[in-house]
Amino acid sequence: GAAELGPYRHYMQKEIFEQPRAIADTLEGVISIMPELFGDGAYKVFKQIDSVLILACGTSYYAGLTAKYWIEAIAKIPVNVEIASEYRYRESVPNPNSLVVTISQSGETADTLAALKHARSLGMLHTLTVCNVATSAMVRECALSYITHAGVEVGVASTKAFTTQLAALFLLALSLAQSKGRLSETDEAEHIRALRHLPVAISAVLALEPQIISWAEEFARKENALFLGRGLHYPIALEGALKLKEISYIHAEAYPAGELKHGPLALVTKEMPVVTVAPNDTLIEKLKSNMQEVRARGGELYVFADADSRITSSEGVHVIRLPEHYGQLSPILHVVPLQLLAYHTALARGTDVDKPRNLAKSVTVE
Ligand code: G6P
Repeated sequence: GAAELGPYRHYMQKEIFEQPRAIADTLEGVISIMPELFGDGAYKVFKQIDSVLILACGTSYYAGLTAKYWIEAIAKIPVNVEIASEYRYRESVPNPNSLVVTISQSGETADTLAALKHARSLGMLHTLTVCNVATSAMVRECALSYITHAGVEVGVASTKAFTTQLAALFLLALSLAQSKGRLSETDEAEHIRALRHLPVAISAVLALEPQIISWAEEFARKENALFLGRGLHYPIALEGALKLKEISYIHAEAYPAGELKHGPLALVTKEMPVVTVAPNDTLIEKLKSNMQEVRARGGELYVFADADSRITSSEGVHVIRLPEHYGQLSPILHVVPLQLLAYHTALARGTDVDKPRNLAKSVTVE
């Protein structure tokens, strides 16, 4: 009801603004890295496994894609990420030494539960879930778990569930690394500090809302949009495009920026807004040349740039500045303005933000 919404117009907006609290609650009590964060016996399992298979749907799948970058970079363990509805029906090559990780806000998504059971039927018995509902079927079915504390998520378009999943998955990458003897105490301390600072960092990003509203007014008049990201932020571009299509009904596609020249560049005209996720990471110079490819075709760039990335606005290049680059946890910050952009664009178009047409919060049938 209205009382629960407080100063917010929709649950989605409220849930976006709850993210500092949701992350803090999800990380509460985590003062050091240890496999037991995921349950008793996790150390033995983590030590033994030689690969990770992530299964999920929708936004949770994009959290999985982000986790692949983290786990491979930090723990040096190969990761496959599969859409649950595909995995359950294809002939794959099972690896009994793989850790099967499901990611689910609700813990009741039929395809993800079926994919988990399929993996188990193939002899993969090491199972772990990152889930927001402690009493769900998913948590009951998995041997190990990490419960995110996003709290009840009402908006169909997932927001705080996603960022809390990311926080939990980062802990998983660190815990796997530690079990394999690949996490120094110095790095552990540095990662913990960065994790604990996230609520403050997210609050700084939320303060960009007024600037994002002015972009949303432009977007509301468009029928197509392209989202670009690279590396760790490619899944964030995918999530930004998903948010926009789900609630504003604008057709949006995401591409890893280096792939532009292999197709999507043909779509770029001055009518095409191109949202660019531009963290100041090692790929920034490559990304800048991708941005020039867009400008050369008249595309309008809407860039979310880290303060230290030295990207400035010019003709056809609109820039909103985030705080300084946040290292490996940067995806958790960069998704927030994309959530706000989708929200305010939908608001300007007058769609039913919390209950978009044809979609359900939790898909418990196939
Ligand atoms: C539905 C929801 C999405 C969600 C997906 C997976 O499509 O609308 O927001 O990402 O299901 O749900 P889960 O509960 O398994 O994370």
